[in-house]
Amino acid sequence: MGLFDNILHDNESLFLDEIALDYDYVPKQIPFRENQQQFIAECIAPLLQNKTGRNLFIQGAPGIGKTLAALFVKRELEEKTGDVKAIYINCWKKDSSYKILLEICNQIGYKWTQNKRTDELMDIAAKELNKGTVVLFLDEIDKVREVDILYSFCEDLLKKSLILIANNKEWLTQLDDRVKSRLMPELLEFNEYNAEETAGIMKERVKYAFVPNVWDQDAMQAVINKTIQVGDIRSGLFLLRESGNSAEARASRKILIDHAHKALTKLESFKIKNSLDFGDDEQTILDLIKQNSGKTVKELHSMLEDKFSYRTFHRKIDELKKNHMLDVIEVPGKSSIVNYSKKLTEF
Ligand SMILES: Nc1ncnc2c1ncn2[C@@H]1O[C@H](COP(=O)(O)OP(=O)(O)OP(=O)(O)O)[C@@H](O)[C@H]1O
Ligand SMILES: [Mg+2]
Repeated sequence: MGLFDNILHDNESLFLDEIALDYDYVPKQIPFRENQQQFIAECIAPLLQNKTGRNLFIQGAPGIGKTLAALFVKRELEEKTGDVKAIYINCWKKDSSYKILLEICNQIGYKWTQNKRTDELMDIAAKELNKGTVVLFLDEIDKVREVDILYSFCEDLLKKSLILIANNKEWLTQLDDRVKSRLMPELLEFNEYNAEETAGIMKERVKYAFVPNVWDQDAMQAVINKTIQVGDIRSGLFLLRESGNSAEARASRKILIDHAHKALTKLESFKIKNSLDFGDDEQTILDLIKQNSGKTVKELHSMLEDKFSYRTFHRKIDELKKNHMLDVIEVPGKSSIVNYSKKLTEF
């Protein structure tokens, strides 16, 4: 073998289709979630006969295919029939009744939303959706600020299935009784994948995303082992991409154990949420903190000139902290100091 045989040329890439590593990529098949998809489909099925469907509460840890399974069922439904309206909303991004209704209006093609109040938008949405049947996927529902909207959906939509997705199991139990008794959802729990399943999913993704045979076996195993340990496929996809990037940065034709190790140090032990999962408000706050790391919560709040109440701002900071996007240092008797996450600056 020549000295330069393993050097990647300028126009070569180790990636076949990098999009296959995006967190919101929906593959052709979703192994190990067949039963869950079936269950979701059964809740929706009555809508195809023009009857009302069942509501469903899906719950489970991050990165184990809840959103993916929902989007997969939605896609199958849309391919099968145009008779049932299917709407997917990420309630972290759209975290108020108003924003959710605006998004629904947007998805049903209603454009005259300007200057309309929340209740007016609800009336418009209900009138349109009640012409047929609708399945509403409300992902990240535990991040929503107001649950009144669920009450309205239960009361005002006639033939529907509400599919609610959350990390937090307790969210349902703490719901207002008025809402709970109307919702009466079926329950579906997603468990973490076992070692064999995780390895299977990862190897399948490698086939979609990389040129054949570029992965050294040890490097692949290291990435799989870490993914099994953290129990989150999203972290696994991150490691695959980072290892590939690291190999390319060194113009290597193979992804070797060193490249995988480099990716592992970046992942550390924390789990990344897709930054797209955060709402516009969270993004604004993160951008502000990135520019002003080291300021106190109070100082940061005043810089936003009343965009949020102090309470709301504090709650959002707490949420971002829980997701490792920020480091917050408590100072006894004073406003806490907020730093942009050290882990994020390494990306
Ligand atoms: N069975 C599977 N087959 C292929 N890819 C999978 C599978 N399960 C999960 N994934 C991939 O793992 C990533 C995380 O999955 P998903 O977004 O569905 O997680 P989630 O359970 O909704 O997590 P969160 O609670 O953080 O939103 C996605 O990129 C998804 O494509
Ligand atoms: Mg999700």
